[in-house]
Amino acid sequence: MKDERDHPEDGASAEPDSTAAAKQPGRRGAAGLSRRSLLRRAGSVAAVVGLAGGAGRTAGAVQRGALPDAYLEPEGFAAPPLERVRMAFVGVGLQGGAHVRNFLRIPGVDVVAICDIDAPRAAEVAGWVIADGRQEPVLYTQGEEDWRRLLEEQDGIDLVFNATPWRWHVPVCVEAMRAGRHTAVEVPAAYTIDGCWQLVETAESTLRHCIMMENCCYGRSEMMVLRMARAGLFGELLHAEGAYIHDLRAIKFSDANEGLWRLEHSKTRNGNLYPTHGLGPVANCLGINRGDQFDFLVSMSSVQRGLSKYARERFGDEDPRALQPYALGDMNTSLIRTVRGRTLVVQHDTTSPRPYSRIHLVQGTEGLFTGYPDRIFLEDRAEGGHGDWQDVEPLRSEWEHPLWRRAGDDASGAGHGGMDYLEDLRLIECLRAGQALEMDVYDAAALSVITEVSEISVAERSRPVEIPDFTRGRWRQRRPTGSFA
Ligand SMILES: NC(=O)c1ccc[n+]([C@@H]2O[C@H](COP(=O)([O-])OP(=O)(O)OC[C@H]3O[C@@H](n4cnc5c(N)ncnc54)[C@H](O)[C@@H]3O)[C@@H](O)[C@H]2O)c1
Repeated sequence: MKDERDHPEDGASAEPDSTAAAKQPGRRGAAGLSRRSLLRRAGSVAAVVGLAGGAGRTAGAVQRGALPDAYLEPEGFAAPPLERVRMAFVGVGLQGGAHVRNFLRIPGVDVVAICDIDAPRAAEVAGWVIADGRQEPVLYTQGEEDWRRLLEEQDGIDLVFNATPWRWHVPVCVEAMRAGRHTAVEVPAAYTIDGCWQLVETAESTLRHCIMMENCCYGRSEMMVLRMARAGLFGELLHAEGAYIHDLRAIKFSDANEGLWRLEHSKTRNGNLYPTHGLGPVANCLGINRGDQFDFLVSMSSVQRGLSKYARERFGDEDPRALQPYALGDMNTSLIRTVRGRTLVVQHDTTSPRPYSRIHLVQGTEGLFTGYPDRIFLEDRAEGGHGDWQDVEPLRSEWEHPLWRRAGDDASGAGHGGMDYLEDLRLIECLRAGQALEMDVYDAAALSVITEVSEISVAERSRPVEIPDFTRGRWRQRRPTGSFA
């Protein structure tokens, strides 16, 4: 497989900087810095009104102007209803394959085409479709750009589902929307500011959906806490915390699946590389993009030790993997302030020995919920307003989200505790009903952009960096929809 760094994600339409250094994600070479200083200079005003572009963009390739009428609805963009949803999958590794299994169980879906550079894997996943008694999907397995051929040939496709490594997220989605297809993409949707704008502007100009599949927003506890927050159980919300704390050392050094591409990002980038799982659910509670908006961020990374130590211990002191410098600090902590004055902490640590956690903390004027393990504290249930954590279990029957009541049994056994199935189910239900999607391209951009914004802050001694408002002010009128209403 080619080096991850050969293709910056913004290579779909843009003209990337011609130097090799500029092509490396997050690389602090001369060209990389000039791109950041451009962004910095374009800075606060331009980023907020949507004018900031990365260096190397083709002038005029992207219009960062007003939202089209179809995107002005408070509930977001809705496309015409689809009787059935004809799908093509690009990238059917561990996560893409799990989605295919889900979609085979959801009414109204046809799996028409599968594209993967790993031909045996594509054939294996196609075998599941055939074993389900369906028509054999057309396979596209002739290299890293064969999805372009798929887009040309498969003109009956409604939805392209993109579960490729990160660098392919933007190029595949942009070209798929230009070809007239709706798109769904795994997390993060993009890992540059410019990539986020490309997704937003292409969705707007083509009138197509681009949803980021942030499954954690559909977690059982996450949806319950959203209901509680909406009902005012915690009072006025002040603060939230989320994280992706997941020891991926073995996975990063493996010679299969994410081991083939994820480590490259740790070599060259330093910030929060994977913010959306921790942020998605708590951003929903705070109404980000719908009533409030991220304003600015400061970010700090610890020193890097985990990958080097692991590589020395597993492979020996002289092994290239032990000698390799890794840019990514083990623990990154970013602090976000919203326009309405609330705060969020989001952390990323994939290289320290510790149990998995997304933290999932929501604090209001009358109490809080926090995860890992789930606990709650409500002032009016505590003696004298003080005391210990309260048991959340008795509250579950009252606050269980209606989606989990309706489809929780169907979701059981599906990926990540069932939340993957529910996000897939709601995507198809909304497309077939012609409704606005519960998460849209603005959510994809707002959650994903934390990647590069945190990298910029880390590189500049935790300088506050403005977070682009991809809704260009519409967050004031926009409101949650469907399961998140
Ligand atoms: N939401 C979640 O909980 C979750 C969990 C795991 C992974 N993910 C995300 O899903 C995506 C895929 O991760 P994964 O764990 O499945 O990785 P993976 O390596 O198992 O799968 C990626 C697949 O894409 C294929 N591929 C690579 N380049 C391609 C190209 N140019 N065209 C077509 N196919 C290509 C690979 O052969 C592989 O089959 C990533 O964005 C990751 O962050 C999300």
